[in-house]
Amino acid sequence: MYKDDFNLSSGCYLLNHSVGRALKSSQSDFNEHFFSPWQATNKEPWQQWLSAIDRFTQALSDLFNSKKELFCPQVNLSSGLTKLLMSHPRLTKSGCRVLMSQNDFPSMGFAMQRALPSNAQIEYIPSEFDLTDIEVWQQYIKPEIDLVFISHAYSNTGQQAPVAEIAQLCKRNNCLSLVDVAQSAGVLPLDLTTVGVDFMIGSSVKWLCSGPGAAYLWVSESQLSLCEPTDVGWFSHQSPFEFDINHFAYHTSALRFWGGTPSIAPFVIAGHSITYFADLGVAKVREHNLKLLAQLTAALGSYLVSPSGAEKCSGTAIFDFSQRQPQVMDALAAANISVDERAYGIRVSPHIYNDETEVAQFIKVVKAVL
Ligand SMILES: Cc1ncc(COP(=O)(O)O)c(C=O)c1O
Repeated sequence: MYKDDFNLSSGCYLLNHSVGRALKSSQSDFNEHFFSPWQATNKEPWQQWLSAIDRFTQALSDLFNSKKELFCPQVNLSSGLTKLLMSHPRLTKSGCRVLMSQNDFPSMGFAMQRALPSNAQIEYIPSEFDLTDIEVWQQYIKPEIDLVFISHAYSNTGQQAPVAEIAQLCKRNNCLSLVDVAQSAGVLPLDLTTVGVDFMIGSSVKWLCSGPGAAYLWVSESQLSLCEPTDVGWFSHQSPFEFDINHFAYHTSALRFWGGTPSIAPFVIAGHSITYFADLGVAKVREHNLKLLAQLTAALGSYLVSPSGAEKCSGTAIFDFSQRQPQVMDALAAANISVDERAYGIRVSPHIYNDETEVAQFIKVVKAVL
């Protein structure tokens, strides 16, 4: 029944780890909240546009169960991460140390390498290590580390990190912790009030079906006042309309990370779509996703190279068909089934708008090749 809510063309779309499909209602909602205020009267539209930003942060607040004031809109994760790294006394100090993994999204490593002080040390957990296993993290998390970077879900391996346990370890070792939810937001539930991380960066383009450009940075209450971003503008000011070039005061909320005149359009789409998922409940999306992943695994389990089980797998199953992989990809394309291929295999990501019939069709096409 959720199928009817989304813009789906013919065929089967299983690329939700890449770009989620838009809601059918997004276009009319966009006209109402973006174009109408701009076109329908001769007043300037900022008040309504800023209300749309408010709807976006409120939707995030509902989705992740944390105060709306702790979220700040960002263009993408890389930019949000850069701003954060350059704002915190522990991360701007000479020789600071960061732990991340070779399996994190490369852009996150690039931002780290450029935004941290030049003598910072970045240690990477090797790619062959099992990032779903807390004992692996235990070997690396030490009091000398300033920041631990965690991807909630790893895009190329389909692994899920045990975020709450890692955050606890970080607390015990007095390290800061940051979780990247680009690949998990909307499919893996995350409760910011209980999980215990210090920072979160995310976007809305994948399971949240909101398109690119609507990313966000969340800062815990305990860290917020310590953060003094360098990349600022009048929307980072406590009183944006003070207009005194000689006086800058940080916004008391996470909006201190906002910057100059904000973009609006991507956040209108995302505010609408994230509200849909917050109302539906991520637990429901995950339950459906797990059911379809189980169907895939039951039929093709011997080719599965990503973890199985609700605690360890992301929303994506990855299959390695070795030398038959090119034929499998061709057969899937001919059957109009959309998946993609990365270093470890074919990625398959069933969302709330996919169903058992589609998964059965995927299995049938693959088995015909094998
Ligand atoms: C885990 C993860 N982090 C980050 C990103 C993207 O970062 P950015 O928004 O800076 O492009 C992706 C994109 O696929 C991702 O999978």
